[in-house]
Amino acid sequence: MNKPIRVAVTGAAGQIGYALLFRIASGQMFGPNQPVILQLLEVPVEKAMKALEGVCMELDDCAFPLLAGIIQTSKPEEAFGDANWCCLVGAKPRGPGMERADLLKDNGKIFIEQGRIIDRVAAHDCRVAVVGNPANTNAMIAASQAKRLPPDRFTAMVRLDQNRAVTQIAKKANVPVTAITDLFIFGNHSPTMFSAFHLAKINGKPLTQVIGHHEWLKGELQETVGKRGAAIIAARGASSAASAANALVDHVRDLMTPGAIHSVAVKSNGEYGFDPDVWAGLPVKTVAPGQYEVIKGLPMDDFARQKIAATNKELVEERNTVKDML
Ligand code: NAD
Ligand code: LMR
Repeated sequence: MNKPIRVAVTGAAGQIGYALLFRIASGQMFGPNQPVILQLLEVPVEKAMKALEGVCMELDDCAFPLLAGIIQTSKPEEAFGDANWCCLVGAKPRGPGMERADLLKDNGKIFIEQGRIIDRVAAHDCRVAVVGNPANTNAMIAASQAKRLPPDRFTAMVRLDQNRAVTQIAKKANVPVTAITDLFIFGNHSPTMFSAFHLAKINGKPLTQVIGHHEWLKGELQETVGKRGAAIIAARGASSAASAANALVDHVRDLMTPGAIHSVAVKSNGEYGFDPDVWAGLPVKTVAPGQYEVIKGLPMDDFARQKIAATNKELVEERNTVKDML
């Protein structure tokens, strides 16, 4: 058994928290030989802290062999203290009729404070995964407050979008999801995101040779994946939670697994024409546990370039909306 790692989770008593913590504690995020200490943050409000207490009782009641300790707190310094991973979930979700960017002013403040505190008190090898929306820009905001931790430690989740696109494509081609590879999400976790179907493969063959219906790939696929979050809110009356938690397990596990190829929102550094200072969904390869490289030089046609320009424009606008806060 390895030495336990410390995993901070914010918004731990929320919907995603409830679907996430049990999977981390059972070993699905860090593997079967890696004990974890969960450091759980909630807002200092009685209802939230009581709910967190209940979740922690349930965690205890699972008798997870890998769960080496639990901290329940409303103090960010305690939650992030010596943390090796910080999963930033706690934030307001959108309701019907809202775009994720409408949350920016309220949620942005959370990420200013948390970025500063993580930089001050987390472990030297700390990695941060942002889920709270608008996730890309919130990751940029948190990273902007860090002086010790470099920007590449701050990632945001577009894995839910990748998983959504994989399933839509698998259904269309009538193949299992495992047949789909190299499906990357470029840009923002918003309706402007680009599901780059032209790079994907089905059973090792170019996807566009298997699915000849190019109008569907450029139209309905992009719409369905881009607006899936809103469709779930309309159907469920609440935003996606179990699938978001599942995507975070995939995001972190693949970032800890050398050789994994997946979509992650990271500081672009100008790749594929993105503004260098936005956090954009990009294809990455994990090169060592917690370390990744952006996969460069993949071919882009006119359609891809237009889609990337549109999602980049939105990311730049979001950054401009919060620039006075940074
Ligand atoms: P929720 O309202 O059920 O839970 C959020 C929890 O965060 C609440 O318990 C709240 O008390 C807590 N919280 C709020 N501010 C906090 C702070 N400063 N510190 C610690 N905790 C805080 O919401 P949810 O459904 O769990 O969603 C959480 C966030 O994740 C939302 O912003 C939602 O839009 C986002 N989300 C992102 C994705 C994605 O793919 N990136 C997917 C689904 C949801
Ligand atoms: C999602 O994609 O399901 C989440 O980002 C929640 C939302 O607001 O759409």
